[in-house]
Amino acid sequence: MQSQFEQLVREAEAAVSAARDAAALEAVRVDVLGRKGRLAELMRHMAALPEDQRRAAGRAANEAKQRLDAAFARAERETAERDRAAREEREWVDVTEPGAWPAEGHLHPVSTAIAEISDLFARIGFVRARAPEIDGDWYAFESLNMPKDHPARDDWETFFIGETPGQRAHGTKGKLVLTPHTSNVQVRELEKGVLPVRLVHIGRTYRRQSDISHTPMFHQFEGLMVDRDLSVAHLKGVLEFFAKRYFGAERGIRLRPHHFRFTEPSFEIDITCDVCQGGSLGPCRLCKSGWLELGGAGMVHPNVLKAAGLDPETHTGFAFGWGVERTLMMRAGIKIDDIRTLYRSDLRFVSQF
Ligand code: FA5
Repeated sequence: MQSQFEQLVREAEAAVSAARDAAALEAVRVDVLGRKGRLAELMRHMAALPEDQRRAAGRAANEAKQRLDAAFARAERETAERDRAAREEREWVDVTEPGAWPAEGHLHPVSTAIAEISDLFARIGFVRARAPEIDGDWYAFESLNMPKDHPARDDWETFFIGETPGQRAHGTKGKLVLTPHTSNVQVRELEKGVLPVRLVHIGRTYRRQSDISHTPMFHQFEGLMVDRDLSVAHLKGVLEFFAKRYFGAERGIRLRPHHFRFTEPSFEIDITCDVCQGGSLGPCRLCKSGWLELGGAGMVHPNVLKAAGLDPETHTGFAFGWGVERTLMMRAGIKIDDIRTLYRSDLRFVSQF
């Protein structure tokens, strides 16, 4: 029987070294050393041997068992070592590599501009006010000295909108419009009768326009101050304060006589264009003249004060309304030469700011 034990050990050793993983090794172990395995089978035959042969067979069986145990123990160590090495390889981290940074968002440049504009006016006591983005014709036009069917309304290229029951809120009066300017804040605030008024309203505005310097949705900031004895000098002082702080002391702004129905006298405010450096870099497709119009301004018209229930003999005021996007574009070094790029949602563009 010794040769049979010898053969079992040799075959088992070959099977052990062929086993590639723990599961295969376990299968070999059950086949060889299991309760119904090949070693047990051989040992069962030993019982039938004559006394003198049984002893030698017993020694051979013990020796075979020891060699098999040793072979399995060695194989188990090797498999465990292989598993550990494979896991290490899989899970290895090079701690000297730069970390993977999560993508980080930030405010859109227009939102940043709104916060900065609001802060600058807060410094000179202008309180932030709000007016509806969808308003009635009365506050958007009529109360601003623009009667129904007046041709001056054409300048505002307004989106009029249909109405569904329950849509009206905030005391809107007249046909509903997507506000084409933030001037609807004027009579809304003045008619509250709390004077003096010194406010800034920054909101979304809409017009049927789209080209290099116009978008259908844009933002305006509206300043309004009403008190006694205010003059154009106060208006100029406030606008110059803002322009010097926002654009820098070296930039030129100019007030150009203009006409608005709700201010008298009225002006438009231009700034030297930053894209073409006031024309010094040659023809500019954005401003075309070295100057870019930022907004309008003027002394509040007596009819607007009357519409708000105030006496124009005792009260005076000034107002201004500028485009936020154009103001941002004119800031030194920004170099946005098409207003529409601000709203194309192209991350390559917005992530520069
Ligand atoms: C007005 O909207 C007046 N409400 C401003 C005003 C307020 C005058 C108070 C007097 C007193 P205007 O239509 O010019 O004015 O527009 C003002 C500014 O809004 C423009 O100079 C420009 O900077 C910006 N703007 C107008 N339309 C667009 C547009 N489609 N896209 C981007 N910006 C625009």
